[in-house]
Formats: sequence, C-alpha cells, structure tokens
Amino acid sequence: MGKRRSSSYRNNDFSLLLVPVFFLFLFLDASIDATAASSSSPVNTTQVSIMTELSALVLLSARWNTSDSNPCRWDGVNCSSSKSNSFSVVANLTLSSFSLSNSAIFVPLCSLATLQSLDLSKNSFTNVSHQFFTSSCSMKAGLRSLNLSSNRLATPLGDFSGFPLLEVLDLSFNSFHGDVITQLNSLPNMRSLNLSGNRLVGDVPTGMVLSLEELVLSNNNFSGNIPRALFNYQNLTILDLSQNSLTGDVPDEFFKLPKLRISLLSGNGLSGNIPGSMSNVTSLSRFAANQNNFTGSIPSGITKNVKMLDLSYNSLSGVIPFDILSPVGLETVDLTGNKLEGPIPSTFSLTLYRLRFGGNFLNGTIPGTISDALALSYLELDNNQLIGSIPLELGKCKNLSLLNLASNKFQGPVPDAINKLNKRVVLKLQSNNLDGPIPIVLSDLASLSTLNLSHNSFIGEIPREIGNLLKLSILNLQGNMIHGSIPNSIRLLTSLIELNLGNNYLTGTISMMPVKLSTLLDLSHNNLSGSIPSDIQFLTDLEILDLSYNNLFGEVPTSLSKLQSLTQLVLSYNHFSGSIPMFRQCVDITTTGNPDLTDGTGNNDNTPANDEGLPVEEGVSQIINGHLITMNSIHTSAIDFMKAIEAVSSHKNIFLKTRFCTYYKAMMPNGSAYSVKKLNWSDKIFQIGGQDKFGHELEVLGKLSNSNVMVPLAYVLTEDNAYILYEHVHKGTVFDILHGGRSNVLEWPSRYSIAFGIAQGLTFLHGCTEPVLLLDLSTRTVHFKSMNEPQIGDIELCKIIDPSKSSGSLSTIACTIGYIPPEYAYTMRLTMAGNVYSFGVVLLELLTGKPSVNDGIELAKWALSLSGSPDQKDQILDTRASRTSATVHSQMLSVLNIALSCVALSPDARPKMCKVLRMLFNAK
Ligand SMILES: *[C@@H]1O[C@H](CO)[C@@H](O)[C@H](O)[C@H]1NC(C)=O
Ligand SMILES: *[C@@H]1O[C@H](CO)[C@@H](O)[C@H](O)[C@H]1NC(C)=O
Ligand SMILES: *[C@@H]1O[C@H](CO)[C@@H](O)[C@H](O)[C@H]1NC(C)=O
Ligand SMILES: *[C@@H]1O[C@H](CO)[C@@H](O)[C@H](O)[C@H]1NC(C)=O
Ligand SMILES: *[C@@H]1O[C@H](CO)[C@@H](O)[C@H](O)[C@H]1NC(C)=O
Ligand SMILES: *[C@@H]1O[C@H](CO)[C@@H](O)[C@H](O)[C@H]1NC(C)=O
Ligand SMILES: *[C@@H]1O[C@H](CO)[C@@H](O)[C@H](O)[C@H]1NC(C)=O
Repeated sequence: MGKRRSSSYRNNDFSLLLVPVFFLFLFLDASIDATAASSSSPVNTTQVSIMTELSALVLLSARWNTSDSNPCRWDGVNCSSSKSNSFSVVANLTLSSFSLSNSAIFVPLCSLATLQSLDLSKNSFTNVSHQFFTSSCSMKAGLRSLNLSSNRLATPLGDFSGFPLLEVLDLSFNSFHGDVITQLNSLPNMRSLNLSGNRLVGDVPTGMVLSLEELVLSNNNFSGNIPRALFNYQNLTILDLSQNSLTGDVPDEFFKLPKLRISLLSGNGLSGNIPGSMSNVTSLSRFAANQNNFTGSIPSGITKNVKMLDLSYNSLSGVIPFDILSPVGLETVDLTGNKLEGPIPSTFSLTLYRLRFGGNFLNGTIPGTISDALALSYLELDNNQLIGSIPLELGKCKNLSLLNLASNKFQGPVPDAINKLNKRVVLKLQSNNLDGPIPIVLSDLASLSTLNLSHNSFIGEIPREIGNLLKLSILNLQGNMIHGSIPNSIRLLTSLIELNLGNNYLTGTISMMPVKLSTLLDLSHNNLSGSIPSDIQFLTDLEILDLSYNNLFGEVPTSLSKLQSLTQLVLSYNHFSGSIPMFRQCVDITTTGNPDLTDGTGNNDNTPANDEGLPVEEGVSQIINGHLITMNSIHTSAIDFMKAIEAVSSHKNIFLKTRFCTYYKAMMPNGSAYSVKKLNWSDKIFQIGGQDKFGHELEVLGKLSNSNVMVPLAYVLTEDNAYILYEHVHKGTVFDILHGGRSNVLEWPSRYSIAFGIAQGLTFLHGCTEPVLLLDLSTRTVHFKSMNEPQIGDIELCKIIDPSKSSGSLSTIACTIGYIPPEYAYTMRLTMAGNVYSFGVVLLELLTGKPSVNDGIELAKWALSLSGSPDQKDQILDTRASRTSATVHSQMLSVLNIALSCVALSPDARPKMCKVLRMLFNAK
C-alpha cells in the first residue's frame, strides 16, 4: 500500500508536466472498486446486522444492493475469513464518494471490531461523532488505515489516541484548524500521516512516533522555522512541508534522513542557502524548494541522487554547477526565475526529459552536446542572454515537444533539422534576431499547435505548405520582414484560433480565413489592398479584428456587424468609404485615418432585434427529457418545460451570447421569467458522456448554494441541444457595466463590492468537497443579479467540455483571450491557480477600466510590466476612480497588489482564493 500511495502522490503533484495526450474529466468520481469479495463462507451474523443498520444510513446514495443478503457483495465492502472460525467478517470498507454526511454512521461503524481499513474520503461530513473519540468505539482496536480526506471537517484536530494499530492516517483536504501539538502523539504504529490542505497553524508538529515514514503537512499555514527535531525521524521517506508560511534557514542535516525519497519545501518564505546535505541522501529522488527566498549558489552534487529537482523562483545566483545535468537517471531540472549567470552546462544526461532555465542571466551558446539528451521533451531557455545560432544538434532530440527559446539573442536561420521533430507541440522563438526564410519544413510538424516566430528578422514569403499544420491553433509571425501575399492555404488551418501577421510587408488581398479564428485576427501594419471580403462573416467566434495601417478600401461590409463575439474592431489608416454599419454597443471600433468613412454610429441598438435578418432557428426537436434539479417549490411550481423550449425557438428572446452558450429569456405561465441557456450539444468539444452523466453532474452543481454563483435549477435535453434553466437575473454582465459605454463612471466602492462578490463565489467553488474549476472566468461570464450582486456563471462547462476533442492545448479552448494563464499553453489540466489568474485579470479590469486586451496587449502583461515602480503603478489605475479621494486611491493600490499577485507568471506564486478573499477584505 505504501508504495502505491507514493507513486500516485508524485504524479499528482507534478502539474506542469507536458501531457501530450489530453483527457480531462476533472470531476469524475473516483470509481469504487465494485469487487466485493464474494466469499463462500457465511458471514458472521452480528456483522450482518451491523451492516444492515449501516445500510439504512448509506442507502440514500442507492449504492448498496440490500436485496443481496450477503453484505460482503455490497459495493465497497471487502471481507476476509476469520482465522478462528469459518465465518467471514468485514475487513475493509471503502465508502469514498458515497455522498455521505450524517455522522450517525459512526455508531454502527464503531461496533465493526474486525475492520482493518476505513475509507470515508470524498464525502460531506462536517464532524466526526463524539463516540469515535471514546474508548467504547471498538472498531479502533484493529484499524490500520483511516482515510477521512476530502470532507468538510471543520473542527480543531481532535485527540486521535486509542488506535493501537493505526498505520495510515489521511485527514487531508478538510478544514481542520488550530494547531497540532499532542493530538497525534499516541499512535505508536503510525507510518503515514497526511494533514495536507487544511487550515492548521503554529509550529510544525514533532511529537509523533519516531518510526514515522511519511509526513505530509503541505497547504496549511504552519509557521516558524523547520524544527531540528524533524531530523530525528530517521525512517522518513516522504517529507512534504510545501505551501506553508515557514521561514528561516533550513537545517543542513538531511544526511540524518537516509531513507528520504521525496522532500518538498516549495512555497514558503525559507531563506539562506540550499542545504548541501541534500546531496548526501542516496535515496532522495525528488527535491523541490521552488518559490522561497533561497540565496547563494546551487550546491554541487545536488543531482547526484535527486532525479527531479525544482529550485525555480528563488534568488539563487552564481554559475550553474557544470555537472548538474550529467547524472544518469536525471529526469527534470527547473531553475526558472533566479539570478543565475554564466553558461549552460554542457554535459547532458540521456534520461533528462524536462529542462527549464528561463528567466535568468545565462549567456553563451546552447552547447552542441544537447544532442546527448535523447529523452528531452521539454526545453525552456527563454528570457536569458543566450547568443549564437540554434544548434543543428537539437534536431537529434526527437522527443522534443516544447521548445521555448524566446527573448534571447539568437541569430541566423532556423536549422532544417530542428523542424523535422514531429512530436513538437509548441515552438516559441519570438524576440530574437533570427533571420532567413520561414523554414518550409515546418510544415512537416504535423502536431504543432503553437508557432510563435514574432519579432525576429524572418524574410521571404509565408510558405504555402503552412496549410499542412492541421493542429496549429496559434500562429504569430508579427514583426518580421515577410512579404508576398497571404497564401490561400491558410484557410486549411481548421484549428487556428489566433492569427497574427501584423507588422510585415504583406501585399495582395485578404484571403479566406480559417473559420475557427476566435481570439484574434491581426493583419495590421502591412500593405494589404482590396476590400474586406464578405466571407469574413463566417468568423462567428472572432473577438478582435485589426486591419489597421493597410491600403484596404471599399465599404465596411454590414455582415461584419453580425459577428456576435466581436469586441474590438480596428480599421484605422486605410481607405475605407461609405458609412460604418451599426455594431453592438460593446464593440470597440477605431476608424481614424479613413477620410471617406462616415460615422454612422448613432443610437446603437444592443438588443437582439438586430437578429431580424437571420433565419429563424429550425424547429425545435422533440423534447427528450425535462428534469428539475431544485427542490425549491417557488421554482418547481413555476417552471414549465414547454415554455422554456418555446422561448429558445425565437431569436427575439436571446439576451446574451458567450463563447459556448446562448441565453434566452423565457416567461413562465405564472408570469415569472427564467433564463434558459443553450449549449450547442452537437459541437464536438462537448463531451457529455451520456445524458445520465450530464444530468448527474448538473444535479451535483444544483446542490451548491452561494449567492455569488449561478446555480442550475432544471435542464432539458433534446437530440441536438442541452438547455439549462436559471433564475432570470440578467442585469447585464460585469463587462457590460465596465465597458458597455455607460455614461457615468462606475465609482470605486461599487467596483470593490463587485470584486469582493466574485471572490466570494470563486472561493466557495474552490472550497467544495470536489472543487469546481471554471473553464472560462471573465467579465463576460459574471452576471448581475442586482447591481453590486455579481454571480459567476457557466460553472458547468468544465464538466461537459472535453478539450481533447479540440485542437492544441487548454489555452485554445479554455477562457477568453486576456484571461488565459500562461501555463495553459502547455498543460491540459485546469487548475485553481489558473482560475486565480483569470480572477486577477477581472480585478485589473475593475482597477483600470480597461478591457482584458487593449491594443492587442494583454492587460495582465501590461500591468505586470508597469508594476516595478510605485510611480508607474499609479498609472495602471483608472484615474476617473482613483482621483476621487486619498482613501480610494490607497484602497485601489492595495487591491492592485492583490491583482498582481494573482496574475503572477508562475502558478505556484499565485495565492489561493481563500487568501485572496482575506486580502481583499483587509484592503477595505
Ligand atoms: C461474530 O463476531 C463477533 C464479534 O464481532 C463475535 O463476538 C462472535 O463470536 C462472532 N460470531 C461467530 C458465529 O463467529
Ligand atoms: C441485487 O441482488 C439481488 C439478489 O442477489 C440480485 O438478484 C439482483 O440482480 C441485484 N441487483 C443488482 C442491480 O445488482
Ligand atoms: C484490506 O485492505 C488492506 C490494505 O489496507 C489490504 O492489504 C487487504 O488485502 C484488504 N483486505 C481485504 C479482505 O480486501
Ligand atoms: C526505523 O526502521 C527500522 C527498521 O524497521 C527500525 O529498526 C528502527 O527502530 C526504526 N527507527 C525508528 C527511529 O523508529
Ligand atoms: C524574501 O525576502 C524579502 C526581503 O529579504 C522579503 O521582502 C520577501 O517578502 C521575502 N519573500 C518571501 C516569499 O518570503
Ligand atoms: C556529505 O558526505 C560527505 C562524505 O560522503 C562529507 O564529507 C560531507 O561533509 C557531507 N556533507 C554534508 C553537508 O553532510
Ligand atoms: C557571461 O557572463 C559572465 C559574467 O556574468 C562574463 O564573465 C562572461 O564573459 C560572459 N560570457 C560570454 C560568452 O558573454
């Protein structure tokens, strides 16, 4: 058991690994082993009656087939035959994810004296019954393993004495609070203790039995120094102190822990040198001390034993030890974000597969010996001062799937050899001095999803063969010296969502563009001529269109105004004529420098009446199923599914369209209004996994209750569509209120209360037993119930969208441009830290009054670039709000600091939502 646990532990914690095959069902319930031991021997009758009593309490979840009289065959029940006689007894109970919350079940459980292992993880217990802690609980005598993780236990840690045989105790991911002093001291057989993910404070506990092998205390608020007494636990194999508030130097005594395999100190405020004794522990295979305040140089020999090393985001300086990458068996080294200087070491291990040196002061060239790193799949050397050419030898690293050399001083052409690497998913070479033609063999890279060659000196034409890159989702060639026309083959890039060809010398007309384009089409600053082609109307998901500084002429096609997703249209400095068609109010249009273009914008009508020209939606297919989720009688009596379906048959009822959904207003027979959200079921990225599963997911969400979250009340499934019903509270979205052209400026107290409301909603979602992660959090997905009462919408998307059905990485489907955390470019895992980033962008919008992308620059990047000096920080704020009073100004500065921490480049550096909420509260 110990073995299995630790290997899954390792995988879970390694969130940045490049995962080439994407499968994302974050919330699939851990499936229960349905293999109840069907023992042939009869079951002890006392135990049958205990189990029957228990079943009455567990039946709720309908998981136990009580018509079967042998409880050993029930789901999650394992029996063993008793040694003393021929009867079977219950040995293990695995009731994980059984939707249990009634602590009354501890009464029958306590009489199961034969129990060895009890797993109640992933339920909703808020407390453990008193009996559990008394000596009358006979179950405790034989129990070896107790798992209460992922519940809602929100008490101080009780006294766990009286489990003479207990070896494994997992209390992780609850809300235990207070300190840990003696509560775990009387467990003489304990091998593994996991308290991760609680709210524990005070010193790191050191009173447990000295034979302890696994100690996991991460994600709490333990403070003070790392106690020397920890080094008396000479049998420790796992020590995880990450994500706490520990400070001070780390005792250099790791040689006293000769069996240590995993040592994690990440995300604290530790300082001083990286302990050199780490290199003396021969069993140590993983060491992470990232995100602290470590200084000094990297001790030599640190990778002698360690196979996975993460020292990123500290203040380490000096030269990288010359032999750090050479040991056989080495797997990953991450030194991102330090102050390291000098050359890249030139001896590479055959087994190294992940190397991150970005954001340092490294100089010199990439050594040709990199070809020895045959396993290398992930190489990041960006933001250094590296020179020379991209070495041919990189072409030997056949497994390379991410290569990021951006923002260095590389020059010369891209060697053909490196373009033949067909596992490559992400290639970022921007902001160097590379030249020569765009390498035509790039078209051999069939799996390429991101190609960024911007801000170099590439010449020649865009090769026709670019159309072979069928998985490409982001293509950025901005700021080069590319000429010729845009090849027609570009339309073949059916996965492309972002295309930036700005600032080149392109000529000819605008050819047909790939219809999936959604985040950006930038053709600005070229010499394109002709008119805007009418087929631009097919780019229905396009958000930003920039055609400025070209020689385009003719009328602006009215079909452009039908693009429901468009938020920004830049037409300046061309030769357009006629009048500007009517756009929705929230579209930001720039037309300066077109003398013949008359301003036709008057009373823009933002209502869907604009849709009149569109064909009425085809007849609604027959209802398959209407389901109520809510039990609130106000809703159950009002909702009429036929009325909901009638409402969605007319475009007139549309009041909002977002990336994945269309919202309709439906009037019920009793006169109350409901919002009906249509999901386009036939879109292939919706992976509903059967209608039952869809219903189940929605019903789980329907039980959530928080005034800042839009909770589903009911749903209807038809053959082609899924419709979800909500209370109709639509007073616009945060986006409408901030950027919708309201005449009066939103004052700071309102903005603050909006921020606070969203933070409360998100903290709630992240704090659920099974946290709900948002696929798309932006000012457009937050609706107002009333002014100052924001509600987060689209909470179900993460459960029903399968990114693997889309192209490329998570960033191509998750979120709206401007809100996408940088790490989503190479991971398929939605994370809380990713949501925190998006929330940070929402905060920045409230602070600046600017949209998430402004002039093609992401708000978060812009704000980060100005965050260095106090003077500049001031410039970030919306002066219309910040100049109203000194108090407002200082509040806004405090909130700005919170926003900046949320949009930190490193996911580890971002605070968790509960902390964000606290900081926001304190900022008032
Ligand atoms: C059944 O188990 C109980 C303890 O739970 C024990 O006292 C009793 O003797 C057992 N009965 C039989 C028939 O084995
Ligand atoms: C429940 O158990 C009874 C009796 O063993 C059996 O006939 C029936 O098929 C079981 N039902 C399910 C759904 O497994
Ligand atoms: C009970 O679980 C333990 C691990 O906790 C395992 O070793 C044992 O085989 C299980 N017993 C049965 C009867 O499944
Ligand atoms: C460590 O484990 C060994 C072997 O199991 C045991 O002999 C020793 O007593 C343990 N050390 C401590 C401090 O418990
Ligand atoms: C690191 O140290 C600096 C000053 O020594 C301090 O301002 C900063 O808060 C520390 N960072 C962390 C993460 O503790
Ligand atoms: C590590 O071990 C070597 C001998 O193998 C010893 O000389 C050195 O002092 C040890 N270093 C630390 C920091 O314990
Ligand atoms: C690299 O930087 C170091 C100082 O950090 C300097 O001494 C050395 O000459 C530089 N090497 C190259 C090749 O620029």
